[in-house]
Amino acid sequence: MNKSFKIIVITLCILILCISIILGIILFKPKEKEVIPNKYNANATKVMDELNIKDKINKLDYSKTLEVILENNLYQDKYLDKYIKIDYIEFPNFINYVNDLLNKNYNSEEINYLFKYYLDNINIFLNMDYIDILQFKDITNFDLNKLDRYLNYQKANNYDMKTVVTYVNIGLDLEGYSKYVEYTEEEAKNLSILVNKYHKLPDDYEPDDLVSLSYNVNYKLRKEAADAFEKLTSAGILDNIYFYPFSPYRSFSTQNTLYNMYKNRDGEAKADTYSARPGFSEHQLGLAVDVRSSTLNDNLTPEDYEWMLNNSYKYGFIVRYPKGKQHITQFMEEPWHIRYLGVDLATKVHDSGLTYDEYYDLYLETH
Ligand code: DAL
Ligand code: ZN
Repeated sequence: MNKSFKIIVITLCILILCISIILGIILFKPKEKEVIPNKYNANATKVMDELNIKDKINKLDYSKTLEVILENNLYQDKYLDKYIKIDYIEFPNFINYVNDLLNKNYNSEEINYLFKYYLDNINIFLNMDYIDILQFKDITNFDLNKLDRYLNYQKANNYDMKTVVTYVNIGLDLEGYSKYVEYTEEEAKNLSILVNKYHKLPDDYEPDDLVSLSYNVNYKLRKEAADAFEKLTSAGILDNIYFYPFSPYRSFSTQNTLYNMYKNRDGEAKADTYSARPGFSEHQLGLAVDVRSSTLNDNLTPEDYEWMLNNSYKYGFIVRYPKGKQHITQFMEEPWHIRYLGVDLATKVHDSGLTYDEYYDLYLETH
């Protein structure tokens, strides 16, 4: 008994000793110095050594941008976290631009975005204060050449940036007629052409396919629009909606006479709210027609107007100057004025709920 007790005690002691030795080895094993592989080339490494930042940098992912910045002695310690997230591009002075943009407070994501999309125009951003460039990321009709105008227009108005871009592209930050595109004869013939206070037709433009409307031989539209108008009228009759044309195609000189008459009567500012200046009227296209419900009134009844809003697109026409859009179209509501665009386009414009000015900028204009 006594003997076996001794054996157990000795065995236990040996066991405890062994465990202690093993634990000692594990716990007090001298730590090997952590060796971090250097991923940078010799020149960059030399600069790291001089600046005593080698360990710090080698713990991070390799960055070509950082390497080139180090090699060129342009490293600024405060930007280390940003450098490593900037995608390197082979481009003259790239790293100087990186530092300049960082100095302007751009972050890595913004810098990557600028280099990706605006490499050739990077100077624009270097010559101006920081702007939140990513706010334009999903705005498809953004035009860098109008950047200043967007920023100024937003300062002066309370619109979101998407609206600002479209409005400025239309020209709404400028007085109507102060700056406009002048179309060629060829462009003027395009059925989808946009005519407004920022887009002018040639003075002598006259469509070469004008035909009379069945209602009155002196009332003319371009052939395709005239045929569509007859269909529109017939469709109205089937729904018990009757309307009549009263002003279709108007030549430049007719528009000139009309506008001047209104101007003399009401003054320029007022006339400009309802009559286009010569060269700026859709009527000169032979693609617009004013309609009325009764010869007693140059307008549509509310019921007829409602029908027109909901049905004219099926025959290729849109109501061009709708209610509440005067700040965009630059003309007061004109229930009577419809514009031919062809069924496809008229349907798209109708379904978009946009004015043609907006639709054109968003989907037809090349930016
Ligand atoms: N009333 C329209 C705007 C025109 O004169 O063309
Ligand atoms: Zn009209």
